[in-house]
Amino acid sequence: MTNYHDLNINSSAPGKITLFGEHFVVYGNPAIIAAINKRISITLKSSVTNSITIRFGEEKLTLPTFRINTHTVETFSNSFLYPILKCITNVWEDLGCFSGLEVSIESQIPYGEGLGSSAASCVAIMGALGSILNKGDKTTIFESASQAERMIHENSSGADCYASTYGGILLFRPSSGNTRIKVEEKLLFLVSSTCIKHKTRDLVTKVKKLKEKNPTVFKELADSAKNICVDAKRALKEGDQQTLGNLLTENHKLLQKLHVSHPKVDELIETFMKSGALGCKLTGAGGGGAVIALLPNNDNYETLSEIRKKVPDLMLAELDYTGIQVVQNLNSEKISNRL
Ligand code: MEV
Repeated sequence: MTNYHDLNINSSAPGKITLFGEHFVVYGNPAIIAAINKRISITLKSSVTNSITIRFGEEKLTLPTFRINTHTVETFSNSFLYPILKCITNVWEDLGCFSGLEVSIESQIPYGEGLGSSAASCVAIMGALGSILNKGDKTTIFESASQAERMIHENSSGADCYASTYGGILLFRPSSGNTRIKVEEKLLFLVSSTCIKHKTRDLVTKVKKLKEKNPTVFKELADSAKNICVDAKRALKEGDQQTLGNLLTENHKLLQKLHVSHPKVDELIETFMKSGALGCKLTGAGGGGAVIALLPNNDNYETLSEIRKKVPDLMLAELDYTGIQVVQNLNSEKISNRL
């Protein structure tokens, strides 16, 4: 085991938007997910404090290392810093040699809005920790991050972690393997928040109950969602933006039938559509959260300024093709086999 006396690692991972197939993907359906150019960045440093400290702006979480146990870690489960704490404590024994760690976070991804902040946190921190543990390849980062995500919400499909690790637009297929979709046209999405935070776990449980109560209805909806994914993959490859927009709106109607939309979401969608968006839907777990709208790429500034008049709080999202990025700054003594 190598001990880094003065370790300083920067790691960042992108958030995502789910274009098609959320919720159904938990039950083996395909989904199409895109990593976006909004990142969570983590700086991980060794410290001599005998504690793990995680900071994000004014927020701070400190756990003395002698209190690392499942019970204590769970008391932080409502904090948005929890995924990072969970990932570190999961591998704490493997790290072996650190008396403490300091983690600082910067984020461009609003949390609890379906934009993959939890997955990006897990991927970024597992990237940093993986580089210490010689497990820094993308396959291992994806596996360890999605394992941690499953501890946060047990039915996690892993789709969000996949997008965050690899970047790009992905056809995520739990049973038959994932592929990147090559897109000819530049895609521009508007993301707007309802400011209603959700817990993915609660919405996944709500859908599970609906599925158990009404399996036939669920199957019909899941079959439609699958067909939408097939058509959307073709539309993406052919650069058929109008069809893509229509399919986004169609997918949203399925999510309404799953009862995971919200009046505020539907209101935003109506505004976007009336202002010239090609298609809109909620993204991620729903119950509030964020809405995505596809802009026509020939007149997007016209449509954008029309939408801005009505929805001031907008984020313009382009796609990210990089995924996880880790930089290790070993700027001092590297001590081997001392502890
Ligand atoms: C959450 O971003 C997407 C869901 O499909 C859950 C999952 O895939 O784990 C709702």
